[in-house]
Parts: sequence; structure tokens; C-alpha cells
Amino acid sequence: MNTKPTINYGLEGIYVDESAISKVDGQNGKLWYRGYSIEDLAEKSNFEEVSYLLIYGKLPTKTEYEEFVTKLKERMDLPEEVKKVIKAMAPVAHPMDVMRTATSMLVMFDKDPSNKDLDATVDKVITLIAKLPTIAAATGRFREKKSFIPPDNSLGLSENFLYMLTGKRPNKFESKLIDLMFILHAEHSTNASTFSVLVTASTLADVYAATTTGIGTLKGPLHGGADESALNMINAIGNPDNTEKYIEEALEGKQRIMGFGHRVYKAYDPRAKLVRSYLEESLTKEPSDEVKKLLQIALRAEKLMIDKLGNAKGIWPNIDFFAGPLYRVLGIDSKLFTPIFVASRMSGWGSHIVEYWHNNKLVRPLEYYTGPLDVPYKPIEQR
Ligand code: ACO
Repeated sequence: MNTKPTINYGLEGIYVDESAISKVDGQNGKLWYRGYSIEDLAEKSNFEEVSYLLIYGKLPTKTEYEEFVTKLKERMDLPEEVKKVIKAMAPVAHPMDVMRTATSMLVMFDKDPSNKDLDATVDKVITLIAKLPTIAAATGRFREKKSFIPPDNSLGLSENFLYMLTGKRPNKFESKLIDLMFILHAEHSTNASTFSVLVTASTLADVYAATTTGIGTLKGPLHGGADESALNMINAIGNPDNTEKYIEEALEGKQRIMGFGHRVYKAYDPRAKLVRSYLEESLTKEPSDEVKKLLQIALRAEKLMIDKLGNAKGIWPNIDFFAGPLYRVLGIDSKLFTPIFVASRMSGWGSHIVEYWHNNKLVRPLEYYTGPLDVPYKPIEQR
């Protein structure tokens, strides 16, 4: 009889590859993209430059940056066929399902989708980085039975998203907030969605297939979907004075508190710290009563969770906890939170596909079989 091998459930603690794209230091709550600290990038860079950095492994020169941005701007609009499908789906389906379907459709408009040359792969990734924010914005518009707003070439990628969603050109602070969220969500090593992207890429399926896989994986509330679930919880708490009772009861009932805990971070997620600090800054800019209340609840929940589970169990706020209140500063509906995550994570997914195909190896792990063997087959009428 076989002895049972050691099984690392959920691949916890298992290294599946080498990568030079990002490093997460979970014990100390630090994150670097290509060696640059997330704090530096959040303060000094922008989403386009960060996307270039992730894909090419270096910061662009001025000319490289301009060429990259021009390519993105030329590709932001969507084929009419894709808009039609978004329009049909958006009023009835969750925006993540719309994103998945619309993104999958983009393969039809690529004349050579299975070309895996480096330049061709990078080109497909750039196309997807350009179009996913437009798909997310169009989904938001059609959900509310509003018309499609074409991208404005004078705006950056993330502020364009906000413009196409709301019809208003964002002010400087709003542009900074949305770009911050795009930068912070762009990459995070081998998380569940990036790993699933690589599993699909490892079969040598195309970039669109791999991206669609990633969107499906990101939807779940234990991963990207936690941003929407966390805001739902804050809304369910309703009144700041209910916060402690609600959280205590949820913990007693063994419920997960969405937006807390992380497989790798056993310290405060540095991205959550940045979102929290910008949220505090937004309090100086006459936020709505709704935002003030959300933040009061979030801060009380954070304090209680850290007191109870922070040092004791290594459960700290993750990026998804404060993301919802920050998106509400911008007036974005909670159903669009995870689609924004998709639009920004495309840079990370794409960079990983490019890196993985340098040395592709089919992903095929093992399972330890626990069922019977050699069971005699009975015809259906004898069962
Ligand atoms: N609330 C309450 N308890 C928690 C939480 C939480 N959010 N997270 C973990 N725990 C507890 C578990 O109940 C478990 O307790 P036990 O040992 O007494 O049984 C212990 O911490 C370990 O939990 P696991 O699920 O085994 O740890 P894992 O590393 O698999 O969990 C995960 C990571 C799934 C993210 C988890 O923390 C969670 O469910 N969080 C809520 C969902 C969430 O916010 N996800 C977003 C993550 S960030 C991202 O993907 C962008």
C-alpha cells in the first residue's frame, strides 16, 4: 500500500516557479514591483508606467513611455460586437460575468491569437490592458441603462475609466485616487488568479483564454470578490455603534470577516495602509455623509479585528477592506469593484504570461487517490 504523501492543501507554502516580477514580504508587510517599493510607485508613478515596468522589467525612457501610452490610447475603444454583448448582459448578469464574456470575445478580433512570439504576446497584453477598463466602464453604464461613452484620448487609462463610467472628467484628487487603486491592484505574485492564468498559459492556450481564466478566479469572495463583500458587510453594520456587536457575533458564529486575513501577509497589508491613508485624506475634502459613516464603521471594525486577531493570529486588514469606502468616495457602485481589480490586474497577469512562456512547463500536479479500485461493473438494470 502507498504511504500517504505530504499534501499542502491549497498549495500553501509551495513554490511553483521563480519570478522577477514582484516580491511580497508577508512577515514584514512589504511589497515591491520589479524591485521598486509599492509606496514609491503609488506616490511617484502612474498606472501606465507601472504596467510598462511590470511587462518589460524596467522603467521606460520618455520615448518608450510615450510610445507605450500612444498604443494604449489607440486601443481603448471596443468593437461594436463586444459592446452589443455587454449591453445585453449587463442589466441581468453580475459585472464580473460580463467582464469574463466580453474579454473572451476579444479573441475574435485578433488575426493571429495563438502567436506566442514575445512581441506578439506583449502586443496582446497591451491590447487587453487598454480594453479592460473600457469593458468595465461600459458594463457599469449599460447596467444602469445609460449609453456608452467612448474613451477620451486626452485622459490617462484609469481616469478614462472613471470618465467613461460617470460622464464627468475627474478632478485632480479623483484622478489620483483611481490611479492609486489601479497601481495597487496591478500585481501580487502567484495569487490564486495569477496562478490560474499560468495554469491555462502553461497548456499553450492563448493570452485571451488565460485572461478569461484569471477573471473567473478573481471573482470569488476569498480573493478579488472580497472588496464587494467587505463593503456589503460595512453596509450591513449600518450604524457605527453597531460595529463591535456585529463583528463579535460574526466571529462567534465562525464567520469570515471580509477584507481581513491573507495567505501570505501575516502583517498589515502595505496596500491597505496606502488606501487607508488616502481615505483619511479624502475626509479633508468634504466627503458625503455616506462616506463619513462607512469610514467610521471601517475604522472601528479595523481596531476591533486587530485587537482580537492581529498579533494573536496574524489576521490584519488586506487591500479589499478599505477599497470599498474609497471607491464610494468616487461614487462607484460596489458591483464594479472587482471589475476594476480585473482591469488593473491585467498588467500583472500579462507580465506573468510573458515571463512564464520564456521557459514554459505544463502545470500538472498530483492528487493522492483515496477511492476504491477494481470495482466490478454492473449493468444498469442490475443496480
Ligand atoms: N475572519 C475571521 N477569521 C479568519 C479570517 C477572517 N477574515 N481569515 C482567516 N481567519 C481564521 C480562520 O478561521 C482560521 O482560524 P482557525 O485556525 O481557528 O480555524 C485561521 O484564520 C486560518 O485561516 P485559513 O482560511 O486557513 O487561512 P488562509 O491562508 O487559507 O486564508 C484567506 C486566507 C482565504 C484570504 C482568509 O484570510 C479569508 O477568508 N479572508 C476573508 C476573505 C478576504 O478578505 N479575501 C481577500 C484576500 S486579499 C486578495 O485576494 C486580493
